[in-house]
Formats: sequence, structure tokens, C-alpha cells
Amino acid sequence: MEFETRRSIAFIGSECYPFVKTGGLGDVMYALPKALAEMNCDVKVILPRYHCIPSKYQEKMVYRGSFNMDLCADGRSFYVGIMEYVWDGVVYDFIDNDEFFSYGNPYTNLVDDIPKFCYFSKAALAALNYMNWVPDIIHCHDWQASLIPVMLRTQFANTALWDSKTVLTIHNLRFQGVYNIPTLKYWTNLPDDVFNIDVFKTGYEDANMLKAGLAYADIITTVSETYAGEIQTPFYGDGLDEHIRHHSGKLRGIVNGIDVEQWDPANDPKLSTPYDISNVLTQKRGNKKALQEELGLEVSDDKFVIGLISRLTNQKGLDLVNEILPGLIDGNTQVVVLGTGDAVYEESFRNFENWFKGSVCSCIMYDEGRAHRIYAGADALLVPSLFEPCGLTQLIAMRYGTVPIVRETGGLKDTVQPYNMFTNDGNGFTFDRYEAGLLYDAINRAKTIYFTDRWQWDEMVQRDMAKDVSWKASAEKYRDLYMELKPNY
Ligand code: ADP
Ligand code: GLC
Repeated sequence: MEFETRRSIAFIGSECYPFVKTGGLGDVMYALPKALAEMNCDVKVILPRYHCIPSKYQEKMVYRGSFNMDLCADGRSFYVGIMEYVWDGVVYDFIDNDEFFSYGNPYTNLVDDIPKFCYFSKAALAALNYMNWVPDIIHCHDWQASLIPVMLRTQFANTALWDSKTVLTIHNLRFQGVYNIPTLKYWTNLPDDVFNIDVFKTGYEDANMLKAGLAYADIITTVSETYAGEIQTPFYGDGLDEHIRHHSGKLRGIVNGIDVEQWDPANDPKLSTPYDISNVLTQKRGNKKALQEELGLEVSDDKFVIGLISRLTNQKGLDLVNEILPGLIDGNTQVVVLGTGDAVYEESFRNFENWFKGSVCSCIMYDEGRAHRIYAGADALLVPSLFEPCGLTQLIAMRYGTVPIVRETGGLKDTVQPYNMFTNDGNGFTFDRYEAGLLYDAINRAKTIYFTDRWQWDEMVQRDMAKDVSWKASAEKYRDLYMELKPNY
């Protein structure tokens, strides 16, 4: 009998639930390593030890060692501490340095974040060497960790880490880590020849950290198949479409899942009335009532409650929502918004709440507990994004029997099958072009089924809860990819 060799993977990124999370990257950095560990992979997650990590976790970290590391072009060196925390089969190593990580939530602005993540990327590799741990795969996430493939093949070329292969995952191409070349040269001390047009250089005199990582990574992945295609076009490519087309031979799309224990309506301590697929049709009502009470909305089971849980940026299609929201408020509909972000959207949602008291509630805040209660209490969840690499909120919604209404882009297209009234099939309501009228129409189609064909609606709720949105299938794809990069000999 042939035994499968155990693969070892270092996951390196800038956020990870429950320590620090601003969006879906934090969820993925938690759930995918956990799923891989359950599949007999040996996984370490390497993160910055931000000051904003709650003290209940800080207190449990154990000191693993420290050293000084050269970083800058003028020879300036910095302290690197390693603090460790082991949980659920995954080892978390936090890179400790107060100069870089004592401020921010966790991000601040590019002026500070560029040096911060130059330091972090090099420190993560140096920490692997220090711990004498040469993983088969170094799996880097987004621009904050994208210098790693470049540093590995230049500054770390004569170390044991040379044998490791790199995977770079794009979670969101909008953020690339672009700054002027002299600053990047100073903070990385990378050789001049990588600051050319094929690696770092962009525009006249800027350096693009993500672009460089994409050039040097052994494999590039992104978080859905549709987005993998989209980013090769000018509209979605954010200036890198040509570069990505050039490297498309090593690009794969693997759709995200969610952690079905973290998101489990049957076992969710944040809910007043837990439920599963067998009793959702009655028990979801209890959650709707509790949500309406919590938010000061008119308490009534007859209202169609639409949730929106999102970073408030133009990526999320909020211009469309702003255009149509007044038209939705017809006495039968309530809208609940949970999010923070750009002032213009925070302001517009606050105004809607004032104008439509009792029907609209805008929670301009970040609140995990409230997010769970909206997923459970709403009838539908809106995700009308301009672009969406994968999107997790529609997956969580389905797991909670809440019907998604989404634009057919990126991972939304790959995970929500449109409702078909003739075959009574599908998981949600979708629209294609980025137009307010089409979003309005999709919501009205949902409302019509909800109010006039409730049994069809209820069947869709149950189909959604039965859908497999776990990491299982996709974690297997990642593992196969790691095996392909580092086969059994
Ligand atoms: P993105 O990563 O682009 O922000 P995703 O859909 O991948 O979008 O992931 C968003 C994650 O952040 C989900 O887990 C969602 O529940 C959570 N989230 C977003 N905004 C808030 C908020 N204001 N409060 C609590 N959770 C939020
Ligand atoms: C990004 C994307 C989102 C994706 C998440 C996790 O923040 O905007 O679509 O789900 O990363 O991969």
C-alpha cells in the first residue's frame, strides 16, 4: 500500500479570524488551514502580532525566540520576535515588532503599510529559517505577502528555504501595494534588476508589490474560476490584466468555502433560536422577530427583510443600492445594513434610516454577533457587487437559509445558481449588467415569489441550507495543487 506523503504548508497573510479580521481574507486564513490540517497537512499560519489582537489571545501566545534581521538598503536592522499559539491542529506564529505593529486596525495608510509589509514578508521567511522549518509550500495571500516569492528567489536563494515552492493567492486585485521605486528599494534592499517592467515596475517610476509577486510565484491562484477569467480583462484587471495574461499558464481559480462550524445555525451561540434544515421554516421566524426587536424595526412576520453585510466601498455595488432603496420601501419590506467604510455610503445609509424609521436600520459598525443575527433573521441577503473575487456573505446566507440576491460576477456567479420558476430549481436571484434597474427587478422577483408562491420560496430556503458550501471540495483542490508542485518521488 502506498502512503501519501504529508505536505507541509506555511500560510502567510495579513489577517486571520479570530485574531484580526476586516473581511473575507480573515475568514479564509482561518478556515482553509483548518480544513487542510483535517486532511493531514502540516500547517503553520504566519501573521503580524498586531497590538489590536484581543488580549485574550495575546496572553496565550508563547515566546519561540527572537533575532535581529537586516532589512533596509542602508543596513538598518530590526528585531523579529516569534510568538506561538496552537489551536485546532494549526500552529499560529506571530511576528512580533512594536515599531511596525503597535498601531493600526490593523491597516493604516500606504505610507506606513508599505514598510510594515516589507518588514513582515522578510521576517516571515527569516522566521521559517530560524525555526528550521522548510515547508513544502509557502502559500502567500494578497499584496501584503506578495514580496515573499521575490525575496525567496533572491535574498533567500542560498538558504534551505530554496526548496520550498510558492503559491500566491489573489483575494482582491484592487489592492496591489504600489509605491515609488526608491522607497521600495530602501525598505526591501532587493537587487536593482527586479525593478524592471516585468517584475516591479509600473507606470513611469512606481513599484507594484503584487505584480512582482505574481511574476515570481510558482503558482497563482484566485478565489473563483470566473474571477480568474475576469482579471485577464481590462475592466477587472486593475491595470494588471496584461501581466496576468502573460502569466495565465500558472493561474488557477479555486472557489472559497466557509467554515461550517463557525457558521452553523444549529449551533450558533449568538442566535436566540438555533435551527437546522428540518425546522428552519418555523424557527427562522423567531430569529426574524428577535432581529426586528434588536434593531427597533416594526415587529412583524409578514415583512420581507433584506440584509446587507459588507465593507462599504464601491466594490460592493452600493451605488445601485442607493439608487433603488427608496423604491423598495413599500410597507412590506425592511432593509438592514451592517457595515463600515467610505463616508459617502455611511452617510447615505444613515439618511435612509432617518427617512424610513422602522423600515430601514443602518448599523454603521463592525459587529460579528450582529452579523450572525442578520444572516439568521433576514429573508434575503443582497450582494450586488461591481466585482467580487469570491464573496463569502452569499455562502453564509445560504447556510443560514437566507436567499441571496446577487450580481452575476466573480464568485457570486460561481456559487449562486439563479432561481428557475419553471423547474423550481436554483439558490437565489441574480442579474447580469451593473444597472440599478436590474437589481430592482431581481429584488422584485424575489418579493413576488416570497409573497405569492411561498412554498416555492420555502423550498429554495431548504435547498440553500442543503447546499455544500464547506471548504471540503476546495481544500482538496489546494492539496492536489500542493502535491502537483511537490510530487511524491
Ligand atoms: P470582503 O472580503 O470583500 O470584505 P467577503 O464576502 O469575502 O467580502 O467577506 C466579508 C466577511 O466580513 C464576512 O465574514 C462578513 O460576515 C464579514 N463582515 C463584513 N462587514 C462586517 C461588519 N460590519 N460586521 C461584521 N462582519 C462583517
Ligand atoms: C476579498 C474579496 C472577496 C473574497 C475574500 C476572500 O476580500 O473581496 O470577494 O471572498 O477576499 O477570498
